[in-house]
Amino acid sequence: MPLLEMRGVTKSFGSFQALKGVDFTLKEGQVHALVGENGAGKSTLMKVLSGVERRDGGSMTVSGRPVAFSSVSDARAHGIVMVYQELALVPSLTVAENLFLGDLSPLINHRDLRRRAAALLRDIELDIDPAMEVERLSIGEQQLVEIAGALAREGRILVLDEPTAALSALETERLFGLIERVQRDGVAVVYISHRLEEVFHIADQVTVLRDGALVGSVAVADVAPDQVVQMMVGRAVRAQDHVSRIAAGPPVGTFRFRADGLEANEIRLAPGEVVGLAGVVGSGRSRVPAVLFGLEGEADWDGKPIWSPHDAIGRGMVLVPSDRKTQGLVLGLPVQHNLTLAVLKDVSDTGVLSRRRERQEARNWIERLSLRPPDPMKIVGELSGGNQQKVVVGKALASQPKVLLLDEPTRGVDIGARAELYDVIQSLASQGLGILVSSSDTEELVGLADRILVFREGRVTTELHAPVQHEEVVAHVTGAQ
Ligand SMILES: Nc1ncnc2c1ncn2[C@@H]1O[C@H](COP(=O)(O)OP(=O)(O)OP(=O)(O)O)[C@@H](O)[C@H]1O
Ligand SMILES: [Mg+2]
Repeated sequence: MPLLEMRGVTKSFGSFQALKGVDFTLKEGQVHALVGENGAGKSTLMKVLSGVERRDGGSMTVSGRPVAFSSVSDARAHGIVMVYQELALVPSLTVAENLFLGDLSPLINHRDLRRRAAALLRDIELDIDPAMEVERLSIGEQQLVEIAGALAREGRILVLDEPTAALSALETERLFGLIERVQRDGVAVVYISHRLEEVFHIADQVTVLRDGALVGSVAVADVAPDQVVQMMVGRAVRAQDHVSRIAAGPPVGTFRFRADGLEANEIRLAPGEVVGLAGVVGSGRSRVPAVLFGLEGEADWDGKPIWSPHDAIGRGMVLVPSDRKTQGLVLGLPVQHNLTLAVLKDVSDTGVLSRRRERQEARNWIERLSLRPPDPMKIVGELSGGNQQKVVVGKALASQPKVLLLDEPTRGVDIGARAELYDVIQSLASQGLGILVSSSDTEELVGLADRILVFREGRVTTELHAPVQHEEVVAHVTGAQ
């Protein structure tokens, strides 16, 4: 008997049908990948399972017994634990407090809490102080803390919604070790990811959704990656080839920066140059964009200090942050307003905001980024994760910067849309922008960057020039070379 059986599950949001009768079967000890393009319905299906959303129709059984969950704690009581795509940690609480959020009470012994947290973090080889506030951690570290929290809850079904989106190869390896361990204890894992090589590495079974419907479910051993892509997007996706757009002329700038845990470094950006920043969680790499943007530490641009984000923006720099939930978007507002927030002065005639021009500008970006659905009035909080990310990028690009800082630009973006974003980035480079991309996805850097700077222990230890082999970058990043 399967551990979980979902049959004909339907779910609508208003008039929009997000799930159109989906079947999903999960066996004990199985690692089951759930894949599909942005907006396919992956998160929604798993939210139905974990009690966040209620299904409209269909049936669901756990160990043969019919179930319907009305809350997250209801589902949790049945051993279902989910790590959400949008981080759900409380930023102002410490790591330890977040890990045991459900157990917090005025009577809690904080020393005991920290001790338990430390044991858990050690277990997953995570070098993070349990007493540290979560807001001081990088996205990758936060992701690992959430996963640790889920593991601590000892479920029978563990749902990981894009757990590695901000993790580099090394942390991903560690996560796989953990998954294999819980799998041996009979725990079933649902693994949502846009990184197909991970699916082929860790999963036994893969189920593909498209437009809210089931395309098929196959044993990983029986298919090739190309076939899965074909099932996902209904067409072949071209591979990313690196094309250099570096132009002659004076550099767009020389940047010097340093911060706690980040030694003094210098990066010179040529016009049209794309520089990739690589490094594991904790290498300092992920902090560089924020430091350059004046958010922390010290930075200067051609010898003139960057005091604040306001200062950075004034000089023509924009940051696409990795944490779209807290820094990038106004979730309650429509796509259109989010896209034009940064350029209000350009869309207003004589100081009065022109609705028509705002709409036009928004439509332009919606088309360039292939936003789904292509509706300027759609509330951003109701878009799928990958489509929200496209809005974050669009918003930054709309302000026509000189220097673009991208922090995990394709976090959660599907294969097809990723190619579209890369095209946008390359076309900006050919307009002479200097672009810095910090990414945990080394393959992405190989495709995009003219030069890759590898960070280790707070400084650049290696500089690699395109064309470069992916394996070579991974070896430098993980310290194998
Ligand atoms: N609360 C909501 N209100 C309205 N529409 C929603 C809501 N949640 C999801 N949707 C819509 O349902 C569809 C499926 O979304 P879902 O988040 O399940 O996609 P996904 O497969 O997880 O995509 P991604 O890879 O981008 O995370 C999308 O079109 C999304 O806009
Ligand atoms: Mg999702």
